[in-house]
Amino acid sequence: MSFLAERNIELDIKRDDLIHPIVSGNKWRKLKYLLLDAQAKNCKTLVSMGGNWSNHLHALAFAGKELGFRTAAFVRAHKEQRLTPTLEDCRQWGMELIFTNRVDYAQLRHSFQWNHFSEQFPNSYWISEGGFSELAIKGVEEIGQELDKHYDHIFLGTGSGATLVGVAKACPESRVTGVAAFSGADYLRDQLEPYLKPQSNWRIDTEHHCGGFAKSNSELELLVNEFHQHNDVQFDTVYNGKCLLAIKDAVEQGRVKQGDKVLMIHTGGLQGMR
Ligand SMILES: Cc1ncc(COP(=O)(O)O)c(C=O)c1O
Repeated sequence: MSFLAERNIELDIKRDDLIHPIVSGNKWRKLKYLLLDAQAKNCKTLVSMGGNWSNHLHALAFAGKELGFRTAAFVRAHKEQRLTPTLEDCRQWGMELIFTNRVDYAQLRHSFQWNHFSEQFPNSYWISEGGFSELAIKGVEEIGQELDKHYDHIFLGTGSGATLVGVAKACPESRVTGVAAFSGADYLRDQLEPYLKPQSNWRIDTEHHCGGFAKSNSELELLVNEFHQHNDVQFDTVYNGKCLLAIKDAVEQGRVKQGDKVLMIHTGGLQGMR
């Protein structure tokens, strides 16, 4: 890619998207210890929440089925609307979908109390939206053990921030940037800080959401297509494409300097593009 070659900048891609065809990218990282914990506690049902195209629910439904759990999810969608391919898969893998309106969904997200649901889902294990938890962060931290060189910068797509926290903890000598996939993500700074204190090797890029979650524009589409043609690596435009766009701007604006070593973590998510 010319924006890298012109400045002698090395960009490596960590292909976590290749971990598994379905439980790919950061999904495997975030779910690993949660699923082990659910098994250790002898829970029978995994319950979580997500949107129409949720990579998290998709991975959870599949992993749950493979491991013999029942799965259920609060889904921000209307019962009457046609299921997305993501939710079709989830249902086919046995996940019970509980259609939830926007207001109730927001309430679940902000003031969730598991004891309200313990009768509805006895002997079950709650996994928060996007899997955010200490155990998810622990799983992500394992990325650090797999890197065999130092990177000046690490970039990755950000939603809940669990992946950013795990990578920033695992790589304290690198500058880690989480590129927010949605607009208005400034609040994440305060939310994530307690997990990372006293570290300051991280930042959230709120400039490359391209209009909001799952929104796109021609610049983003062009860049993702060009990268695919040159490198045979496919990115989704929801998380990873935006991350690449942020890297390009950081290079062009001089925040990534000539000779710097840069890593982008491919967090998977291609199923959502169907
Ligand atoms: C493909 C992909 N990349 C990145 C993220 C963001 O991860 P996190 O929620 O840990 O910030 C997600 C959401 O979980 C995702 O599905």
